Amino acid sequence: MKRIVILTGAGISAESGLGTFRDVGGLWSQYDLEEVATPQGFARNPALVHDFYNARRANMLDAAPNAAHAALARLEAEYPGEVLLVTQNVDDLHERAGSKNVLHMHGALSGAVCAACDHRWPAPRAMDPAAPCPACTAPRARPDIVWFGEMPFHMDEIGHALARADLFVSIGTSGEVYPAAGFVDEARACGVETLEINLEPSLVPGLFDRVIAGPATQAVPDWVAEVLA
Ligand code: APR
Repeated sequence: MKRIVILTGAGISAESGLGTFRDVGGLWSQYDLEEVATPQGFARNPALVHDFYNARRANMLDAAPNAAHAALARLEAEYPGEVLLVTQNVDDLHERAGSKNVLHMHGALSGAVCAACDHRWPAPRAMDPAAPCPACTAPRARPDIVWFGEMPFHMDEIGHALARADLFVSIGTSGEVYPAAGFVDEARACGVETLEINLEPSLVPGLFDRVIAGPATQAVPDWVAEVLA
């Protein structure tokens, strides 16, 4: 097996104490995603949106990577082929665990972008809706996050990687949000072997050649040990 493409979702950071979205008590049961995760919501009430992401950024900064993040960093370091990590997550736990080849398709809490001039800069722990953009001074700063209705980042690179992969692994995602939810179909259409590692099987079981059920901090290190053996 020469090339592995891994997709991760909120489930891989759950045991680091960061919330998932659709589990019982998840973020979308606490907040209305229309208000905090859409461009329309940001236009209506930027302060509410910044409150939401400032709380998630604080949780992220206070959290630590877990054994699943560490195992994927070990795989990248020790595997004799290529490992590409595509994450839907906006936390930086993969990087803090040591992963280098990471694509954040939904953006990152660590980044800020100006809605007026598209200038990007590292986000402070708490962003202030009235703060001027460092480049154009307009008070239009937003978290560098992809909202519903916006185009995810790195889609061309991800599509090419899926087409030429030997193995596609989906970890800790409910498979409910496109385009990420369609990656397994793209992989299968190109004859790529597919594996799901999730607390419980998230999709019709037939989509994945193999399913490993269990908490990521146990299932991911076990799988990485198997691959590196
Ligand atoms: N170990 C492994 N999997 C887990 C664990 C765990 N400890 N805890 C939860 N899970 C699984 C759940 O079973 C579920 O399938 O993680 C998945 C989390 O699903 P979601 O909450 O829907 O999160 P995700 O799939 O990442 O959401 C995708 O939706 O809201 C948007 O942009 C947001 O990136 C997010 C996207």
